[in-house]
Amino acid sequence: MTMLFLAPELKGDSWIKHIRSQDAGIDLRVWPEVGRAEDVVFALCWQHPPGELKKYPNLKCIGSLGFGVDHILRDPDLPPGVPVTRLVDPGMIAAMSEYVLAAVLSHTRQFDLYRQDQAQKKWTARIPKRPQDVRVGVMGLGHLGADAALKLRAAGFAVAGWSRTAKQVEGARSFAGDSDLDLFLAQADILVCLLPLTPATRGILNRRTLAALPKGAYLVNAARGEHLVEEDLLAALDSGHLSGACLDVFRTEPLPEAHPFWSHPGIVLTPHSASHTYPAAVAPQIVENYRRVRSGQAPLNRIDMDKGY
Ligand code: NAP
Ligand code: GLV
Repeated sequence: MTMLFLAPELKGDSWIKHIRSQDAGIDLRVWPEVGRAEDVVFALCWQHPPGELKKYPNLKCIGSLGFGVDHILRDPDLPPGVPVTRLVDPGMIAAMSEYVLAAVLSHTRQFDLYRQDQAQKKWTARIPKRPQDVRVGVMGLGHLGADAALKLRAAGFAVAGWSRTAKQVEGARSFAGDSDLDLFLAQADILVCLLPLTPATRGILNRRTLAALPKGAYLVNAARGEHLVEEDLLAALDSGHLSGACLDVFRTEPLPEAHPFWSHPGIVLTPHSASHTYPAAVAPQIVENYRRVRSGQAPLNRIDMDKGY
């Protein structure tokens, strides 16, 4: 009954230490030192090599080492019927809301312009819009989006959310489904993307949807790089339709050195670090799911394979 750590690009030491601290007797192996493939019942994955998971005939659960599962579902050779789970962690949720607030406030309080003024020793008071006059639209009202919406609301912003099904988040206007998308976009001075990456949301931040935002709108994308058609963002910034963007995620990560985002004056970027996963915080839920799977119970935080999140 082996747990396999299958995350070639992550440094495993801290993960292994914290998983073992939950259960010293756990049979934990680190890919590619797998041993007998038949022993593996639980695979913990981040960016695994496609085709790898079908090699384990007794696999009973595929656990994402993050909130997102797109890195798992992109494997065309997943073993059929094996449940896929995701992490849910209050610390990661709070960290994402902090990031979103920091991005939104740094834009509305014009810190980038003050920085430029400072370099020229210019004393220019800029009158910020009052938060209640700034409409923030949050795409995705799941674990991350709902908390971000609540905290933006608490900071005084006029908040709306867009999700697949209608949601009630206190103080936030709810828009739902494709039929509401344009209405939602038309009233978002700041658009925050916290959607999962699925076939329905890939490329959702594109020429058409960016054009549907009010002139001068600002974009925050902390979900996945593939939500955004990068050339369309550049065009929207360069035409002046968008006033700027704060991006944490990119189609290619790390962002290639020659990528135009690095030097674009309208873009603030961070290296996929909006919300870090702390192994110490999530090891208990990983080991709990391993125990559940071993004893024939359903794992927690299972995703819906049809929806892709
Ligand atoms: P979640 O709990 O699964 O929530 C997803 C939300 O998106 C739900 O409200 C869902 O609507 C909505 N949604 C999904 N597909 C939609 C569609 N086609 N149209 C409209 N709404 C749709 O996800 P989460 O835990 O909040 O995480 C979201 C994503 O954030 C992750 O998948 C990951 O990619 C990203 N992330 C990034 C970082 C980072 O550091 N940058 C960290 C963690 C996560 P319903 O409620 O109606 O189902
Ligand atoms: C990070 O991007 C995650 O999905 O947890």
